[in-house]
Amino acid sequence: MRRYFFPLPVIFSPAAALLLIFMSGCLASCRPRELAGGVGKGRGRTLYEVSCGACHQVDGEGKEGVASPLAGSEWVTGSEGRLLRIALDGVRGPIMVRGRRYQLERPARRHVYDDADMAAILTYIRGAWGNAAPAVTTGAVAAVRSQTASRGDSWTAQELGSH
Ligand code: HEC
Repeated sequence: MRRYFFPLPVIFSPAAALLLIFMSGCLASCRPRELAGGVGKGRGRTLYEVSCGACHQVDGEGKEGVASPLAGSEWVTGSEGRLLRIALDGVRGPIMVRGRRYQLERPARRHVYDDADMAAILTYIRGAWGNAAPAVTTGAVAAVRSQTASRGDSWTAQELGSH
């Protein structure tokens, strides 16, 4: 009878290697990413629900006679400069959203949120309810805020077309 002799390290090394890779991968990336993502996303969502949700609704579908939808809206997922102008100074008058015409008024939020909070809200709505647009950075909010510092009035969809 032949005896097969496998040294223990040979038998266990693949399993040990896998375990090590799993553990180091997780220590290095899973946890911080989870934490950062969790906090950032949670803040944007909370601020959205408090500040915008009353009109646009928690599910982003808007409300008849109150506000247009943000889920699936080109104004949310399209040009960042345009979205920032709406967020800071508001929009009024006729606007087409998801093929429907709205004619209402959206209030300014320039003096309510600082750059970081505004970035968190807009990043949230660009990624919620099936929207899949890139995040908005604090720097981008600051840049548009200063470019439009002397605006002092809400926008019309027509004016925003070129931004
Ligand atoms: C008082 C109600 C109200 C609040 C609060 C409000 N909005 Fe709006 N929003 C509106 C209305 C009404 C319109 C459509 C304006 C029009 O008809 O020209 C609109 C339009 C928009 C649009 C462009 C059209 C669309 O549907 O995509 C965006 C983007 C938007 N709002 C984002 C926000 C965000 C982000 C917040 C919170 C920081 C917010 N709004 C808070 C009422 C509101």
